[in-house]
Amino acid sequence: MAAAGSAVGLGNIWKFPYEAGENGGGAFLIIYLLCVLMFGLPLLMTELLIGRKSRKTTFSAFRAISGSDRWQWMGWWSSITIYILMGFYFVVTGWCFNYLYEAVFNTYIGMDSAALLDHFAANVSDTPRMILCSLFPVLLTAAVLWMGVNKGIERLSKILMPLLLVMMIVMAGRVLMLDGSSTGMRFLFEIDTSQITPAVFMKAAGQCFFSLSVGLGLLITYGAYMPASQNATVTSIQVVVVDTLVALLAGVIIFPAVFAFGFDPAEGPELVFVVLPAVLQNMSFAWFSGVLFFLLLCIAAITSTISLMEVEVAALTEYSGGRLNRHQSVLITTAVTSLLVAIYVLSMTGACPSLRFFGHDLFGLADTLVTTFMMPLGALCMSLFAGWFMPSKDIEIIPRSGNRYKQWLRPLFVFLLRWVVPTAIVFIFLNGLDIL
Ligand code: PFF
Repeated sequence: MAAAGSAVGLGNIWKFPYEAGENGGGAFLIIYLLCVLMFGLPLLMTELLIGRKSRKTTFSAFRAISGSDRWQWMGWWSSITIYILMGFYFVVTGWCFNYLYEAVFNTYIGMDSAALLDHFAANVSDTPRMILCSLFPVLLTAAVLWMGVNKGIERLSKILMPLLLVMMIVMAGRVLMLDGSSTGMRFLFEIDTSQITPAVFMKAAGQCFFSLSVGLGLLITYGAYMPASQNATVTSIQVVVVDTLVALLAGVIIFPAVFAFGFDPAEGPELVFVVLPAVLQNMSFAWFSGVLFFLLLCIAAITSTISLMEVEVAALTEYSGGRLNRHQSVLITTAVTSLLVAIYVLSMTGACPSLRFFGHDLFGLADTLVTTFMMPLGALCMSLFAGWFMPSKDIEIIPRSGNRYKQWLRPLFVFLLRWVVPTAIVFIFLNGLDIL
């Protein structure tokens, strides 16, 4: 449930629709599904298994398993990538809190498509508002970790996440009744092969890592808490299925609405923040629907930010070798994250022009850097490590007491990690960069 809580978040509801919208709809979807099967699922299992075997965080898991310091840099890699990712993740979580506030005060009710776009632009260039909205979830996450109530939040999310799913199904039902919605369904599900380009492969692969939370070693820490008797394969399949369903459902809400309300599917990161208010104000019980939906969205985002920050706190505590206790680690992690988030916001709102590079703000650069480069590279190293340097008897994809006849799965899995996954990642990466 914790891994599912980490996986399901803004990546499914915010990032998937806008990436699909910018990269050919159905063409993106099919490549995305292929990536999930080909390396998302195996890598998710791999991270959990490395964690379960070593019972350590990313900082020392590789040394514990291989007995060598050669992989130590992976701990740093993971930690730095998570910080860069957290910076922009908290900014988008801030947008969700902003819209929750707006839903409560009925601000967006009555706005048409053009007004909603202007309204979004005005919101994200309002520096004090964005600072406040983005730092609030940082402090909320920190408070959860400080009080050690993450277990409670996870238990709560067992009720709230299915509720989010139900809410999304109801919204999809409403959207599908709108005039013009079938164009959106065709956009999402019809595959136009001419749209399948190397760049789409690269984007879809990045989205797969981001959405499943793999490639950062975060799930190594989660695997460290996983009981030996638990079937890692079944757990991973469950996480992948839930995560993919939520992304698909988000697509089924967004794209029909995009065409029904006259938005552009390639609108970019603001897509869902302009389309969702348009959908929600057309629901029955509009106020209640808006507040409930944005509240659930904020909670889905917070269960992901908890996972990100928890891993930094655990790594810092472990790395300090006992010099820092958990509370001190929470304070330090919160301070660094807050600073980073503030820098991203200042860059994005344009309040600090020197924080823009080559005409881009840090937000977009960080998003591209993490999802297109750092996560795939981390994933590549993870699969090479598990495939070549982890004793294959330790790759327990089926519990030791498990079915004998299923044991043939292990060599197949090792083959996948050794050859198929690394080759696919390298190929997609080089092709996407136009090097091949
Ligand atoms: N998977 C999360 C989402 O889809 O929103 C985002 C995320 C969380 C990415 C944790 C990476 C990570 F380590």
